[in-house]
Amino acid sequence: MKQLTHEALQASERYLNNGLISKEKIDQAIQTCLLKVDANITKLGELYPTPATQNNAYQPIQNIEWTNGFWTGMLWLCYEYTEDEKYKNLAEKNVSSFLGRIQETIEVEHHDLGFLYSLSCVSAYKLTGNGDAKKAALLAADKLLERYQEKGEFIQAWGELGKKDNYRLIVDCLLNIPLLYWAAEITGEAHYRSAAEKHYQTTITYAIREDASAYHTYYFDPATGEPLEGKTRQGYSDDSSWARGQSWLIYGIALNQAYHQTTEETFLFESVTNYFLNRLPKDFVSYWDLIFDDDSEQSKDSSATAIAVCGMNLMDNFLPESNQHKLIYKYAQHAMLASLIDHYTESKTDGISALINEGVYSWHSGKGVNEGNIWGDYFYLEALIRFKKDWKMYW
Ligand code: GLY
Repeated sequence: MKQLTHEALQASERYLNNGLISKEKIDQAIQTCLLKVDANITKLGELYPTPATQNNAYQPIQNIEWTNGFWTGMLWLCYEYTEDEKYKNLAEKNVSSFLGRIQETIEVEHHDLGFLYSLSCVSAYKLTGNGDAKKAALLAADKLLERYQEKGEFIQAWGELGKKDNYRLIVDCLLNIPLLYWAAEITGEAHYRSAAEKHYQTTITYAIREDASAYHTYYFDPATGEPLEGKTRQGYSDDSSWARGQSWLIYGIALNQAYHQTTEETFLFESVTNYFLNRLPKDFVSYWDLIFDDDSEQSKDSSATAIAVCGMNLMDNFLPESNQHKLIYKYAQHAMLASLIDHYTESKTDGISALINEGVYSWHSGKGVNEGNIWGDYFYLEALIRFKKDWKMYW
């Protein structure tokens, strides 16, 4: 592991001065989400929203995208919160669709199987014991394992397996490997866990720069497994830090801590988190790449902030009271979430509406720029539920 620069947290008083969110505000924000989800259900039926909105509205699609699990995950969160069977009934129909998708291998030749199946099916199994959900999630875990590359010890994100131009990991995958930890626990088979652990180690060794910022993707030599170079796909440039990549790291490191209870993750977590927090603009919601500031006229990525809040909230369980950042991180979570509630939730369409606005899916390809996206919605609702109760993770 390379030696990381540990940036001191700057201007911590701005979080303290912002105060904590009241319980009433969290309740109200969840109610607003439920109203939007209910309205979206009437327009979607058993279909799913597109990954991102266009002119602020999602379109209905079949179960074909890497993002469909976020919608089903939201239905499970709504069910947990309300205990209203209507969410469970629809989520269970989604589970049948996810079982069919993996059995028929429809759009599953990529690493996003964790996003898809942890939120749709592991959730269902944990909440209701649904047997189809367990079966589907285990099949998905097996499919994900097919992407594990011994040479380099990582899970190949996209493209034909073993091909030089696709022989890379991406930081986002830290949220896909919980599916493997779950499969190891359910089956007692150690190979799932071993692949997840190796992938994690490779990611934190190579995808984090010495200044604790994130490379989005990192290439390896397919012949030897030697590390080659960091490259971006969704960030501004190879040497900038894509905001969502940094927040995938924050949550990914916290998840690893949750699975392993090691102490060395604390320093790593603080380094990566301080890098993110030190680049938050005035309203505590990051631009889509951390090189941008309030003078940049660039778009925010509200989803990156929602993901960071969830990761910091999880990590709080493992930071001792004596930790110098524990209190500030708590206030920082509140400041970020309060800003999302106050400034990013306006309803902007009569169509299928996002819970939070102003995300960026992919700036270089012009997809979902300054639009809502379904993972931003999911992590926003997860964050609210985390603030509301002692939430048992689907991850
Ligand atoms: N995992 C893909 C993305 O964050 O856009």
